[in-house]
Amino acid sequence: MARGLKGIKTIKDFELFEKAVFLRLDLNVPLKAGPSGMQITDETRITASLPTIRYALEKGAYLVLASHLGRPKSSSDKICSLEPVGARLSEILKTDVLLVEDAESDALKALLAGMKKGQILLLENLRFNAGEIKNSTELAQKLAENMDIYINDAFGASHRAHASIEALPSLMKNKGIGFLIEKEIQMLDRLLDQPAKPYYAILGGSKVSDKIGVLEKLIDVVDGFIIGGAMSYTFLQAQGVKVGKSLVEKDQLNYCREMIERLKSRKKLLLLPVDHLIAADFNSAEFKVTPGATIEENFLGLDIGPKTIALYAEALASAQTLFWNGPMGVFENPKYEKGTFAVARALAENTGLKIVGGGDSAAACEASGYADKMTHISTGGGASLEYLQGDPLPGIEILRQKIRD
Ligand code: 3PG
Repeated sequence: MARGLKGIKTIKDFELFEKAVFLRLDLNVPLKAGPSGMQITDETRITASLPTIRYALEKGAYLVLASHLGRPKSSSDKICSLEPVGARLSEILKTDVLLVEDAESDALKALLAGMKKGQILLLENLRFNAGEIKNSTELAQKLAENMDIYINDAFGASHRAHASIEALPSLMKNKGIGFLIEKEIQMLDRLLDQPAKPYYAILGGSKVSDKIGVLEKLIDVVDGFIIGGAMSYTFLQAQGVKVGKSLVEKDQLNYCREMIERLKSRKKLLLLPVDHLIAADFNSAEFKVTPGATIEENFLGLDIGPKTIALYAEALASAQTLFWNGPMGVFENPKYEKGTFAVARALAENTGLKIVGGGDSAAACEASGYADKMTHISTGGGASLEYLQGDPLPGIEILRQKIRD
């Protein structure tokens, strides 16, 4: 299977002057209700999209920006409107960004006909149209009308076979990627192309089942796994350690047992928590540190403990390459942020290659203040994992021109 950027054009390969460019972005930013409507709480994805937007504007393109936001059930799910994103883009770019409610109406056609270079339209949340997630050719045909060039810069959504990601570029002759995807692929490829050793993957989050693909792919590449978060309780129970009422995926116990054996027989490192922060439940005011890996009955694990932090920090300091995906505990609650933030600090202090795989771990890098010390923080959680585990991303594959190896 082709990997990397082989056969894929970038926005730099096109003449953009007075061309209508459909720019698919991942502007799926977190929002919260504020006094004057919905407010953006983290604009990383907007900032990450700016180099491509600015480049296209400088080259004189007519820009039609498009994205999904959240998982709306219908177009009346107004909390998923891209309106706040359009307003923010307009502030940043110091120009009008016109929100087009219905991309299938004739309004878009009329607007495009009257567009001048440097103008920007933003299509309302693509998922307000049921055809988007159905990868509808009909919707794609509508979106393709009057467009000269299709550019995908929505790395975080490129693992979705949706109309704006797959069906639309399949209809376009001129298509390629923007700067964000170019950098994402180059960075993630550094983890696959003979990474410097030792290379450890730090995996956390709640479910082993979500990480099987990446465990299977990385077992051949890494020197070891460092595991935290709720997925560690399933690994611990698989070894016969009592974990109280912590979250355990019973149907993954055999998988974990086998993985432990496989790592042992291949002489690879596996670090699991040796102590925890535990409480009777998530909302309890009281929490305590366990003396060892065992968690007493009626308590659940919510973060890794101080001995585990020291153990993990030592291993991380010795690595040349690190990939991190998934928090070590329920870090949204300040009582249980220490483990996750300590991992962020250990990565920050390491001078090797440090790549963070989107989602919660990216948020933890920001919240801990160490984000600027990472080599790369992916804008895509699911997409970066699927790419690393070798799954073809529909939004990337559709852009590959047929070429001989
Ligand atoms: C993300 O937030 O990971 C991307 O925007 C994709 O969103 P989705 O999981 O709703 O498809």
